[in-house]
Amino acid sequence: MQHSKIVGLGHYVPERIVTNAELSTNIDTNNEWIIERTGIEERRFIDPKTDTVANMAAKATHIALDRANLKVEDIDFIVFATITPDYFFPGSGVLLQRELGLESIGALDIRNACSGFIYALSTADAFIKTGMYKTILVIGAEIQSTALDLTTRGRNTAVIFGDGAGAAILQASDQQGILSTHLHSDGRFAEELYVKDPGSSRPHMERQPEQILDTSSFKVHMNGNLVFKHAIVRFHEVILEALEANKMKKEDIDLLIPHQANLRISNYIQQKMELAEDKVYNNIMRYGNTTAGSIPIAMSEAWEEGKIKEGNIVCLAAFGSGFTWASALIKW
Ligand code: UT7
Repeated sequence: MQHSKIVGLGHYVPERIVTNAELSTNIDTNNEWIIERTGIEERRFIDPKTDTVANMAAKATHIALDRANLKVEDIDFIVFATITPDYFFPGSGVLLQRELGLESIGALDIRNACSGFIYALSTADAFIKTGMYKTILVIGAEIQSTALDLTTRGRNTAVIFGDGAGAAILQASDQQGILSTHLHSDGRFAEELYVKDPGSSRPHMERQPEQILDTSSFKVHMNGNLVFKHAIVRFHEVILEALEANKMKKEDIDLLIPHQANLRISNYIQQKMELAEDKVYNNIMRYGNTTAGSIPIAMSEAWEEGKIKEGNIVCLAAFGSGFTWASALIKW
């Protein structure tokens, strides 16, 4: 059976840096609170005149292709993880396909929020293992700044989320690559972290867009405490599941890349698993939580910094809206 190997990584974040001090001008918050509760120092917000989810993904893709010594035409299929597509439909996968100048390859969107990139990776891995495709572009990308309530009312989410894109090229290989993926969900908690509108489950005639004065249902709503409590349990559980499935121990992990939700969550997992600090990669300080973008951006940066080497065991883990949670264990 074929394995899937990540042969190239790339990421792109918008140029505009938004500091905690800048957010504090419109929101009743402050640098100390944000750093203490989340670890975030700054994040990137798009320039709506130039950045789209698809074109950020295209920029990340070109970097990943260069690093893999591949051309755009080598891509057989796109799996695009985002909960913030450029349009309500179609998904951003087809927009990326157009942006890359590819004619008719398939493009699939995955809407699993913070776990989206691992779900996408797992989907691409399955396609490669069956022999259906040889080279798959896997994206995690988000523009969240446009759906945040950047007032005091939305302060528990406004200070957390950021924009950015990451890309991974997966190729069939006879060697090791992705060893396993584990995917989970629990829809009982769907409304604990969600954006309600535009949803199809309510009659649209009741609220014509031009009549909408209260746009709060279009903003991110999060029960932060509850999400936090579930996250720390599920992260740990799904990492252990990955290790057990591969008959490995925590000592075998060379690098753990957790979804960048909150530095306190990452630190909790690191301490609970008794991993050395340098075995857990964090960049939330610079980018905030970029949802599906966070893991591929972090992987790309870790690779650039020489923290992922051939033969390493890299563990990815995520938890988020849905609730969904997931892990992937990779032999690089
Ligand atoms: O990636 C998807 C998954 N998402 C997550 O995993 C996020 C998980 N949750 C969290 O990261 C944390 O719950 C937050 C960072 C969102 C909030 O931190 P917290 O320590 O859970 O704070 P809290 O919600 O319990 O709020 C504590 C206090 C409250 O005030 P009172 O009621 O104690 O007077 C909040 O109103 O902090 C207040 N608060 C703020 N104060 C200053 C909430 N947001 C802010 C803010 N600035 N931005």
